[in-house]
Amino acid sequence: TCPPKVRVVEVGPRDGLQNEKAIIPIGTKVALIEALVASGLTSIEAGSFVSTKWVPQMADTAELLGLLPARPGVRYPVLVPNLRGLEQALATCRVEEIAVFGAASEAFSRRNINCSIDESLRRFEPVVSSAREHGLRVRGYVSCVLGCPYEGEVDAAVVARVAAALTGMGCYEVSLGDTIGTGTPLKARRMVEAVVAKVPVEHLALHFHDTYGQALANIFACLELGVTVIDSAVAGLGGCPYASGATGNVATEDVVYMLHGMGIDTGLDLARLCEAGAMISTALGRAGASRVAQAFHAA
Ligand code: HMG
Ligand code: MG
Repeated sequence: TCPPKVRVVEVGPRDGLQNEKAIIPIGTKVALIEALVASGLTSIEAGSFVSTKWVPQMADTAELLGLLPARPGVRYPVLVPNLRGLEQALATCRVEEIAVFGAASEAFSRRNINCSIDESLRRFEPVVSSAREHGLRVRGYVSCVLGCPYEGEVDAAVVARVAAALTGMGCYEVSLGDTIGTGTPLKARRMVEAVVAKVPVEHLALHFHDTYGQALANIFACLELGVTVIDSAVAGLGGCPYASGATGNVATEDVVYMLHGMGIDTGLDLARLCEAGAMISTALGRAGASRVAQAFHAA
């Protein structure tokens, strides 16, 4: 049975835009986030404090955070890979939550954050504890949970081990990322079952990419296990700079349409989400990837 209510975590402004080659004007990012807030989203991942050489698109994160609307109950989490990133996050206003990001594949970990899985976990520990001492909430990501662009198959036991390590060090939630979108429903369910053996399902989120068109089916398969948090990106924005072939995140509009159709409450306004997706698609000069938004605009 599926949960009655799901929390949607919008990752478009970070995961979606980080891959864009042309630097997007900061005003466009602010307008996108304002439109997302207007749709009812309360958790909007806004940027990252990572090497600006590695991911130039996120170089304006500190400035962007200063321009975002302060709304009670609305959080703008940012990715932080190390203590230096945490310092930058603490120096800005409006950061109440950070996310550390690891992987279930050694090769991806090295390409993405330049260290092994175990090194990354050792690196995250002081970041998580210091962030919590400063009153921040910390989320953890595990990438490549259903496949790796360099190693292929990924062992669910490794996903479970990394997820357990992240919750053990104080992450309130661990988001399971199918970074390259190769997962299929039964595999996704078995992976989540392996994780649930070590981390209570209340602490898990699904972060699925739609590269192979499987994301909604995968989400449905895992909802039945009791997962209540889903990451998505409006207009299906995105990809990952260190995972070639990774196209967008599952579109928020598509996730919300499916959930509402199943009688699951999200607290979100689908029409406004479609407007936010249309706005950023126009700004990027291309059609959005959400099928629901296309149908919505045609109707
Ligand atoms: P490194 O080379 O091991 O670290 O990189 P370093 O300490 O030697 O620093 C290298 C350079 O980065 C230096 O600059 C540092 O100053 C700078 P240089 O001396 O060469 O001019 N630097 C920083 N700059 C800004 N902020 C910082 C910072 N730290 C160092 N915090 C590092 C390690 C992690 C920094 C690097 O690999 C990096 O920035 N990686 C970013 C990777 C990234 O952002 N990937 C995309 C997000 S993950 C994702 O999308 C997947 C996810 O969505 C889940 C899913 O889909 O499955 C989360
Ligand atoms: Mg992602």
